[in-house]
Amino acid sequence: SKHIILTLDGPAGVGKTTMARKLADYLKIAYLDTGAMFRGIAYLLGQEALHYSDTTLQTKLLEFKFDLKKDSKDNKFVLSLNNRKLGPEIRTEEVGMLASALATKGVVREFLKQAQREIGKRFSLVAEGRDMGTVVFKDASLKFFLDATPEERARRRLAQLKMQGIEVDYKKILEQIIARDRQDRTRKIAPLCPAQDAIIIDTTDLSLEDVFNALKKHLSDFG
Ligand code: C5P
Repeated sequence: SKHIILTLDGPAGVGKTTMARKLADYLKIAYLDTGAMFRGIAYLLGQEALHYSDTTLQTKLLEFKFDLKKDSKDNKFVLSLNNRKLGPEIRTEEVGMLASALATKGVVREFLKQAQREIGKRFSLVAEGRDMGTVVFKDASLKFFLDATPEERARRRLAQLKMQGIEVDYKKILEQIIARDRQDRTRKIAPLCPAQDAIIIDTTDLSLEDVFNALKKHLSDFG
């Protein structure tokens, strides 16, 4: 079948991962969580990476190898970094904040852009992140931008963490979401914003099913 790339961008906690997965399953293509790539690098480099020179950072980045592989058992796509599956250890807000800080750096973005495009050459994708439609896959067949108020996104994050048995404070989550968004929207390189040709969906008052249906409406060319 035809090679296609769909992009799904938006702020933290808006539900991109859930939707990108559902969409990829529906279309029977791979799903690429580019946030996990930034998080994986942040997790392995640690806080000290914030003080590295660009040259040092570049040297360290050369040691990282991402791969997307189809698991022979369940046919699901698995993203790995240096042959290790990226797991729950990268999902903390601390790692998210460090990822966001490193994501302001040109050398990091260049490195990941290359890795993302290489994966995009090998697979049809639903690519999820902040700059998929604006920078990395400018020629994507279809671009979506999901949005929601910070309050609603904080509520969703809270519910998600509660399900995992993690108790956190709503106010703290709201503050973290606002801080990370500000950093992502105001950075010089590839700031978070909808591509000119993106379909923008405000999900604030929509259920998961509503959002999925809204996305599906635009798929008629590929369905
Ligand atoms: O989507 P997620 O919250 O996992 O992303 C973590 C951080 O990685 C974001 O806050 C953002 O700074 C960065 N990121 C990015 N470009 C992408 C994906 C993620 O800058 N395409």
